[in-house]
Amino acid sequence: MGEPKSNRKRILTGDRPTGKLHLGHYVGSLQNRVKLQHEYETYLLIADIQALTTHWDKPEMLKQAVYDVAMDNLAVGIDPEVTTLCVQSMIPEIAELTNIYGLFTNMNKLRHNPTTKAEAIQYGMTKDLRLVRDALNAAVGYQRLDLLSGYVALHLKDSPFLAMLDSQEERVEVIKAILSNDSDAAASIVMRVFDRELGHTPDGLRLRNSDTTYIQFELDESADGKTKPLYTSSLTVRIPVELNALLLLESHLSSGFDQLTYGFFGYPLSQAADITFVRAHLVPVGEDQKPHIELTRDIVSKFNQLYGGGKEIIPMPKALIGDVPRLAGLDGDTKMSKSLGNVINLADPPEAVKKTVWKAITDKDKIRKGDPGNPEICNVFKYHKVFNQAERVAGIERDCKTGVLGCVECKGRLTEALDDLLAPIRERRRPYEEHPERVKEILLEGTKKARILGKETLDMVKEAMKIDYF
Ligand code: TRP
Repeated sequence: MGEPKSNRKRILTGDRPTGKLHLGHYVGSLQNRVKLQHEYETYLLIADIQALTTHWDKPEMLKQAVYDVAMDNLAVGIDPEVTTLCVQSMIPEIAELTNIYGLFTNMNKLRHNPTTKAEAIQYGMTKDLRLVRDALNAAVGYQRLDLLSGYVALHLKDSPFLAMLDSQEERVEVIKAILSNDSDAAASIVMRVFDRELGHTPDGLRLRNSDTTYIQFELDESADGKTKPLYTSSLTVRIPVELNALLLLESHLSSGFDQLTYGFFGYPLSQAADITFVRAHLVPVGEDQKPHIELTRDIVSKFNQLYGGGKEIIPMPKALIGDVPRLAGLDGDTKMSKSLGNVINLADPPEAVKKTVWKAITDKDKIRKGDPGNPEICNVFKYHKVFNQAERVAGIERDCKTGVLGCVECKGRLTEALDDLLAPIRERRRPYEEHPERVKEILLEGTKKARILGKETLDMVKEAMKIDYF
């Protein structure tokens, strides 16, 4: 297929090869790819160079992950006869375009990208509080929790305040209080920790004012000498609770941007090259990718304006966000992530799925069957809504509320619903696992085909930019 030119519009989307794909990827983007692959000419890019922008020290994980990501796509129903799978590092046109876009993209555009900021913090690449604060302000919902967890983990080692927090639960408790905008609760935890660790709450530590973002404490060092190691001077400090109080004082505002690599800081620009080397019209992605698509649109618009002479040389791409833009982990309100161990991979065997569902947190007040439950706050119910059939979901909701349905049974039903989804995916994956050379062939062929289009794009781009002297 593919050689004759088609008039269909094009899709490009990509995955970083850092491991296997999970249910979050499925509802965020994979489902849309599968659905639209016949309607659009579809390109799936395995973004290995982008994966290295956060994992440059772990190149040994790439090979397996490249195969895994390709197999996961094929397993969910991507048809290699109609869809082109290709590997980023093997397409030099992407690197060339990246270079070119860098010419007219200013630093500000990169600096204000909430997704890179969030990732920088999550991956422990920066401790710059300005970055953290900006990122938090831009973040929504449990994105905030991810950020905070990342931030907390990052500072755990050096923060006296965090060192005082007893356990992960306690940290999560603080974070949850903050996220639910319950600053009184957050403050009372802070007080409790001081009390436990110092034997008293420092006199000078008083809740002055609370609102959704800040709790202000007044610190008067002279009121209690024992607090001295924690503070550098006697001050009135406004402490954003989400930064976990004393961190603000401890951190010297070193420039966070300087700690980021050039490659990482600039990867959204290279993602614009990913999208445009095939001149894609539509980009199915999860919600976190929206800022990158926005940047791409900026770049496209600027490029056409600068060099197009009134013509649209590169088409304006659009994001297509999945039905469930961000799937929360089953253990609470964090997103699915490998490091949190709450992930259900598409390739997981039934026992693994069962085990993860088993660990899911339900309504904490529903202790035994017969207790009426509240599906609204139950993680298992959230999954039923996404993965189970509508009429079953209605029944589950009703029976949970009355108490007829117990959590054990309810989890069993979710496991079944997930197995209905995953069984055919596992089936389709198996032949590729048994014959990885088939996957290799698909990637080599796809990359070759994608490069033809990439070359065409680059010729157009260079011509428009008058880089055609001879
Ligand atoms: N940044 C995407 C992610 O982390 C992966 C990606 C790379 C991508 N290149 C892309 C997505 C181009 C869409 C389009 O999941």
